[in-house]
Amino acid sequence: MPSDDAAKTPTQPETALGSVVGMKLAVLTGGGDAPGLNAVIRGVVRQAAQDGHSVIGFRDGWRGVMANDWMTLTVEGCRGLLTRGGTILGTTRINPFMTEDGRDLCRATLEANDVDALIAIGGEGTLSCTQAMYELGFPVLGVPKTIDNDIGLTEMTFGFATAVDIATEAIGRLHSTAESHDRVMVIEVMGRHVGHIATWAGLAGGSTVTLIPEKPFDINEVCKALQRRHERGKFASIVVVAEGAKPVPGTLDVPDMAFDEFGHIKLGGIGDLVAREVQARTGYETRTTVLGYVQRGGEPSAIDRVLATWFGVEAARAANEKDFGAMVAYQCGEMTRVRIADAVAELKYVNEELYKVAQTFFA
Ligand code: F6P
Repeated sequence: MPSDDAAKTPTQPETALGSVVGMKLAVLTGGGDAPGLNAVIRGVVRQAAQDGHSVIGFRDGWRGVMANDWMTLTVEGCRGLLTRGGTILGTTRINPFMTEDGRDLCRATLEANDVDALIAIGGEGTLSCTQAMYELGFPVLGVPKTIDNDIGLTEMTFGFATAVDIATEAIGRLHSTAESHDRVMVIEVMGRHVGHIATWAGLAGGSTVTLIPEKPFDINEVCKALQRRHERGKFASIVVVAEGAKPVPGTLDVPDMAFDEFGHIKLGGIGDLVAREVQARTGYETRTTVLGYVQRGGEPSAIDRVLATWFGVEAARAANEKDFGAMVAYQCGEMTRVRIADAVAELKYVNEELYKVAQTFFA
């Protein structure tokens, strides 16, 4: 098992740049998919090849590590990946802490394949698990992925920009049908714990009101905003609701949430609830659109292609330097590295000032 202190041995020659020749890097993609995963993989492979290292990819996240299920990744094999949606490696939310022998299985796999560094590309769940593996001595690195953009210490995760583009386009389309019918359109977008997609797409699309998990809403205030707009002769409105948005306690009954097999709340439904209440309380004809998985599917946007590629190249550089426990991060226009532990310590919430800007336009 290679570890943090596994120094270069005299038998390993160095390149002119001082890196160890012939490391074996491994990559996995975990959690929900996001546009740009394949571009990260391509970036890792290209930089690793230039450093003289080989790369394998574990299938289906940590499941592949536990099951010793992997594929070889080559520069040639990564052709065309820059623009391709999804992940060629597959992904699951399975992690080694779900079974008693999960960590031993991972250790055995990494040893059997002489893996020197494992790059985990994932969101909060995958990165927290990666940090726990690091604390057990695994030579891991992290790349922040999620359309929700809720990972700390990086201004952006890849996948977010694409999701915002898709949600903004959808809002634009809803405007014209809303205007034709004088309707209120409620659009539910993703955002389990945070409202980055809702806030950015709401601003970009010109919503009347945007509801996010960070700011519990009062349905009466939402209705009043719509009524003020109607009084000004504007009979069509867009309400953007993040899937994790919640009413102020005691103001509206929300049906009990179901949980999936990984203990995550199964979201969806808040858009419908808001639409029903708006129609009942104002009398305005109201419809709901749940945008769902189209926000995650398909090609990454130009920004996500660049960000994902940059993350991938930097992650391979970090592996080359054995900077284990690091997560690549985007801050102030620069690519940098932070500790995974610090990045997952707290979710990154919507910037208060930005939400105030959005509120400026609430009718
Ligand atoms: O974490 C990204 C995300 O797309 C969330 O916005 C959403 O709540 C969740 O994944 C859905 O996950 P699943 O693929 O398990 O339904």
